[in-house]
Amino acid sequence: MCGIIGYIGKENPIEILINGLKNLEYRGYDSAGIALKDKDEIEVIKSVGKIVNLEEKVKCKELIPSHLGIAHTRWATHGKPTENNAHPHTVGKVTLVHNGIIENAEELREKLKKQGVTFNSETDTEVVAALINKYYENNQVEAINKALKEVRGSYALGILFQGSDCLFAVRKDSPLIVGIGENENFIASDIAAIIDYTNKYFLLEENEIVKITQDKVEITKDGKEVEKQIQTTNMEKDAKDKCGYDHYMLKEIMEEPVVLEKTFKPYLEDLDKLPDLTKYEEIHIVACGSAMYAGMIGKTLLEEYANTKVEIDVASEYRYKNVIYDRKTLVILISQSGETADTIAAMRKAKENNVETLSIVNVKTSTIARESDKQIFIEAGPEIAVATTKAYILQVGIMALLAYKTALTKGLVKENDKVLEEAEKLPRLIKEVLDRRDEYKKVAKEIYNKEDIFFIGRKIDYATSMEGSLKLKEVSYIHSEAYQAGELKHGTISLIEEGMPVFAIVTDDTIKDKTVSNIEEVKSRGAKTIIISNEKWQTEDLQVTVPKISPYFQPILIVPTLQLIAYETAKLRGCDIDKPKNLAKSVTVE
Ligand code: F6R
Repeated sequence: MCGIIGYIGKENPIEILINGLKNLEYRGYDSAGIALKDKDEIEVIKSVGKIVNLEEKVKCKELIPSHLGIAHTRWATHGKPTENNAHPHTVGKVTLVHNGIIENAEELREKLKKQGVTFNSETDTEVVAALINKYYENNQVEAINKALKEVRGSYALGILFQGSDCLFAVRKDSPLIVGIGENENFIASDIAAIIDYTNKYFLLEENEIVKITQDKVEITKDGKEVEKQIQTTNMEKDAKDKCGYDHYMLKEIMEEPVVLEKTFKPYLEDLDKLPDLTKYEEIHIVACGSAMYAGMIGKTLLEEYANTKVEIDVASEYRYKNVIYDRKTLVILISQSGETADTIAAMRKAKENNVETLSIVNVKTSTIARESDKQIFIEAGPEIAVATTKAYILQVGIMALLAYKTALTKGLVKENDKVLEEAEKLPRLIKEVLDRRDEYKKVAKEIYNKEDIFFIGRKIDYATSMEGSLKLKEVSYIHSEAYQAGELKHGTISLIEEGMPVFAIVTDDTIKDKTVSNIEEVKSRGAKTIIISNEKWQTEDLQVTVPKISPYFQPILIVPTLQLIAYETAKLRGCDIDKPKNLAKSVTVE
């Protein structure tokens, strides 16, 4: 979390930095700040809240003329989102911005206080600034090196020094790239922040320190020079625009047919491009949030149709539990950003135990993509809305293809099976589902003024319910819970009240009758059920019906309806849909 951008060049950096921050706002948005450098003066401007507040403040000030600056958008970890805690932080001759968490910040703070340092914020970042300042005489790289030897934790740092006209940066366990322009250079948490100015960049590896001028970039690690290969991204400049949609979330949902087609293309041409899971005796799926719910669908399909043993865990649990690796195991990591701290830790744990890792990931330059043994890339393109939509659909799509390939390899697929033909139809069918926005608006009108909602389903429909419930609660702030339909009566049914909406997801024919009984149970206690199914029901209840398709892909037609219901509900409640409160897009802290 937190976004960093830095600029050095011929231009005045303000517009570039503010524009960059807006493109990084998905990484956190509770406060922001900017530091500009001119000769030996460093001017810092900060504000609480979104980037527009900082932009307004900057407009009303007469700022020092400058060609060098750093900026930051924050997702609070240490200390409340106040101006004091916002970055950049200055101690002595050092001004810096930071993304990550310094684990031994308190210990270092106490030590530095005893040495006479006074602190103005509650942040761990200010401690790093103080430490670098302590070691700074006239060699900036040496000061950074010495300070970081004492620091434990994760960091991406953009640093300015009084006494130097260069921009400095370093990273460990938090992303940071260096953008290469013509007579100008950049640092950024993500290429999206600088794509308007350059498509050339390189990744900074752990603890490489970079010293940047407008036409030179010098990298060193442990005092030795490092050579870098410059890469070019094919990200379109307008990929991060809303393209006329009111919100990124809506734009990204509407992109689902196109990105699915692109992601599936190589595998529908040749399924053997996917790894062979039959080589393993056990599969572990590890991820966080929606990515974990995509994994739950994968687990259900692998068990149900490919007779494969699968364990699934949220990464924050997996990384700390006693995982028993007593069989030939593959760990599948699912992550849109590829930078989720817990998922990275889970991956490294598997690797330390000599267990093979496969990532299903969107950002190709991310830590998970780079460190996992094998990768399957989803082609979602940039996902800006904090709530994931298109990336989730693609994660489910890849899990479905993996399950199908495994069943095929094991000879478990019936001869007249048309799964791949159905996969070809998916983009058109998703589009059909997305085109029915009026139906979702009608459902949203029924639920937007409620405060508690349930989602129920069994087996794969339960996994789908989990995502439907998460999407609704995170963007609309309505409390909602997903339950296995048969489990509700073991206590939780006591919460059902007159008029309480209950979404029932019913697509699995093998278990449909059981879910129908559970629907009756909640209805007889006053619930207002909304049936989301792949067939039309004879019922007075509100219902949404999607086309019936192979069970491998049915969630890919159900979830878009739930995403759009969540979107329309949040809109009716006047929520900040693309940036829900308290959240950030990529969770790079534990
Ligand atoms: C919910 C959402 C999160 C992410 C989770 C994992 O809409 O976006 O639950 O799915 O934080 O993020 P990645 O996939 O980047 O590892």
